[in-house]
Amino acid sequence: MSANIPPAGADHWTECLSGDARRLEAELASLRAQIDLCCNLGGLQLGSPVLVASGTYGFGREYGALYSPALLGAVCTKCVTLEPRAGNVPPRVTETPAGMLNSIGLENPGVDVFLREELPWLRDQGARVVVNIAGHTVAEYGRLTARLDGTPGIAGLEVNVSCPNVDRGGMAFGVSAKSTEAVMRVIRKETSLPLICKLTPNVTDVTEIARAAEESGADVLSLINTLLGMAIDIETRRPVIGNTFGGLSGPAVKPVALRMVWQVRQAVKLPLLGLGGIACAEDAVEFILAGASAVAVGSGTFSNPLLPLEVTVGLGGYLKRTGLRLADAVGLAHRPQGKEATT
Ligand SMILES: Cc1cc2nc3c(=O)[nH]c(=O)nc-3n(C[C@H](O)[C@H](O)[C@H](O)COP(=O)(O)O)c2cc1C
Repeated sequence: MSANIPPAGADHWTECLSGDARRLEAELASLRAQIDLCCNLGGLQLGSPVLVASGTYGFGREYGALYSPALLGAVCTKCVTLEPRAGNVPPRVTETPAGMLNSIGLENPGVDVFLREELPWLRDQGARVVVNIAGHTVAEYGRLTARLDGTPGIAGLEVNVSCPNVDRGGMAFGVSAKSTEAVMRVIRKETSLPLICKLTPNVTDVTEIARAAEESGADVLSLINTLLGMAIDIETRRPVIGNTFGGLSGPAVKPVALRMVWQVRQAVKLPLLGLGGIACAEDAVEFILAGASAVAVGSGTFSNPLLPLEVTVGLGGYLKRTGLRLADAVGLAHRPQGKEATT
């Protein structure tokens, strides 16, 4: 970029993209008049099966100038903890081929600020809010859930079990069926809100953890969280990420995510929220055919803020073109070979 051109700020991009946003809104309104995009995701009544993934949409304000978060199935918030957290040491992100590594940590303002300053905005916008919750001990998850339970404007909770368990030497809760169960049971006791357990892909057998979550009170399973990875700067000869390791996301992880959704679909009865590398509507259709009842767009939103709307419109267009109802498309790729898809 020439040194004379000032860097474009958020307002500049909002202006550039607002024409496309209005077009997508109009297309979505027209599709809604022709097909049913609503879905019931384990008790969560959603107007669309396309959500935004935790940590890639903040608490929504940055995108609010472009389009209303009410157009999304739901907003999965950045993780919220009992106390405010500063997150990990920088650098926290780096690009990788077809993806990115992040090590944000649990940076968030804490549940009190979330309830006072962030949730009211989302509620006023008419957004469905799924609060992504995190903790370092089982008891912390329980206390946080009790604090959130009964708050108007919260449609459900997504339990991030990829956090280190300080009572077990820092191993992530979600890599063990036993500790996943312990977290989910404590949370289940504190709320009757729909509970999504977010599975980590950093395990040998994801179906074992999925079954544990199903047996301990989850209503929905979301998958996948990021894959553990790293990058090294060959000039400094040090890891690029301040925390050495980071979570890989973006198109590079989609085949892994899709395979896991497929496997978990065969292992449990719970509805699934599929995510990992969705970069276009066709990716979302693949997740649905693999067994996801709804999908979430994550890092793709960083390079294209309109992606969640584009995916919604494209998915709606696919359903219209094929004559499939959303519920009938879920898991359709599992049908025995030779059996035609009925429309
Ligand atoms: C910058 C960043 C921050 C994230 N923060 C969270 C988080 O707070 N809680 C969580 O459960 N997942 C978090 N994730 C994981 C995403 O929600 C998602 O599961 C993952 O990135 C895979 O989807 P994607 O490839 O579409 O991004 C984060 C991902 C990124 C890229």
